[in-house]
Amino acid sequence: MDDYCVGIDLGTVNTALAYLDGKGNLEIDKSQDGSVTVPSSILFTDMGKIVGSKAEAQARIEGYSNFVSGFKRQMGTKYTRTVMSSTYTPTEMSALVLRKMLMRFEANHGVMPTKAVLSVPGDYGVPERQATIQAGRIAGLEAIELINEPTAACIAYCKESRFREGNLIIFDLGGGTFDVAVIKVSDNRFSVLANEGSRNLGGKDWDLHLANIIQRKIIDAYGMTQKEADRNSKMRKDIAVEARRVKELLTARNRVTDTINVNGMPVTYTVRREEFEDATHELNLRLTTMMLNAMRSAGLRERDISRVVMTGGESQISAMMRYVDDALPTVRTDIFEPFTSMAKGAALYADSVFSDGNLVVEPVLSKTLGIKAGVDGNETIYNIVFRSTPLPMTPEAVFRPKRDDQKTLELEIYETKANPGTYYTGLPYGFMLKRFEIPLPGKILRGRTKMNVRFAVDPNGLIQMFVECNGHVIECDMSNGMSMLPAQIMQSKKKAVNVI
Ligand SMILES: Nc1ncnc2c1ncn2[C@@H]1O[C@H](COP(=O)(O)OP(=O)(O)OP(=O)(O)O)[C@@H](O)[C@H]1O
Ligand SMILES: [Mg+2]
Repeated sequence: MDDYCVGIDLGTVNTALAYLDGKGNLEIDKSQDGSVTVPSSILFTDMGKIVGSKAEAQARIEGYSNFVSGFKRQMGTKYTRTVMSSTYTPTEMSALVLRKMLMRFEANHGVMPTKAVLSVPGDYGVPERQATIQAGRIAGLEAIELINEPTAACIAYCKESRFREGNLIIFDLGGGTFDVAVIKVSDNRFSVLANEGSRNLGGKDWDLHLANIIQRKIIDAYGMTQKEADRNSKMRKDIAVEARRVKELLTARNRVTDTINVNGMPVTYTVRREEFEDATHELNLRLTTMMLNAMRSAGLRERDISRVVMTGGESQISAMMRYVDDALPTVRTDIFEPFTSMAKGAALYADSVFSDGNLVVEPVLSKTLGIKAGVDGNETIYNIVFRSTPLPMTPEAVFRPKRDDQKTLELEIYETKANPGTYYTGLPYGFMLKRFEIPLPGKILRGRTKMNVRFAVDPNGLIQMFVECNGHVIECDMSNGMSMLPAQIMQSKKKAVNVI
């Protein structure tokens, strides 16, 4: 085969790539050492940009000043990082990881993929989705489609467990984000009924709690004061790194004993699983509360749910399944391929969108879309279309001029987290996607001329906007300041070389 379509799960911590081989078997592309994921970490060196576990290993020795990780949390924001006198956006850093995945695939199979489905968190809004597509372009992909991570996991689960009909809750807890989706499955049709989640809830938060426990134990064992501990940044960094490892060990064991060097002296401590579970009780409850909210906003009750499918590395924490079972005691819960479910689902979807169209995915709008309006002298966001509305769609709103001969229509378009049915949102709770000053054609009459604002939201969640006035249709460019023009993508491509 000379034209592979692949699925890539670009994670906060780990990235995976899946593909269908010539015989139609679903496979995960592996490293030479057999590992199925590549850490989403980069070390910039004179030799090149090292991506993956080698970057982490080398940074442990050389230090972390030219090392980046966790940039998925900044996708679509203005954040940049300057390393070795070049400045990188989160999009460009993601492109390096994608480039590494594509190069590894080429080394294994002799072909560089040009088409891919990339999985993204369900609550990604427009800027994050745009940034992800651009990262794919910079990495050299020509055709890119997006799929929400829980939907991808759902597709893979249904394929591998031959599940054909019913409502599934997909519970995906990764290193940086939590996503929960309620998906109606009917043969090869996947309709998202509800999405919930948080971009700032993931493994790192559990690590922090465990790091606090470990630090307290070390303070006691070493006999230092809290002040001394606060000042010892090397010790705190070491504890933070250890916490993740200890947490992963606690999944299979009841207690872990470990030693850390503090000021050159070995200090031994023991953590029991129970202590970790007590400290993270609130976090665990937050997850199940969001899960039940998602179920309710899908209009479903416990008896309507066929199964809960847990995926994502962090869902393996031993307490997690207990919390899910307590929240929905009569529903069967499965843990499904924590590290590879999303990439596999993305690959199955890639095969469908780029060739035979055997799967139907019905996505929903991830954020509520609104326009700033003046209401009784106060400025608020008037929500036009609510999150969880099925995509694609073309919502409209009609505005009327405030004065005769008004020259322009000023519009500010916002994304909000407003629940369906909440028509107004305070300005501070919205994210401004774009501001427009649109010249108005023809004769404008106060309160009479209709200015029809029409959106077209595609299945990827990307938006186009048109204003119709006096028979003219004006297309408004929704790409925001952070999205890149073809020339800028060319520029970034030049930085995406020397990937090791
Ligand atoms: N055995 C284990 N027990 C508990 N947690 C684990 C285990 N193995 C890995 N993890 C945790 O899983 C997390 C990484 O999960 P995963 O690879 O699914 O995240 P990701 O896909 O990169 O992130 P995201 O989906 O949030 O962008 C890390 O926080 C890691 O500590
Ligand atoms: Mg993930």
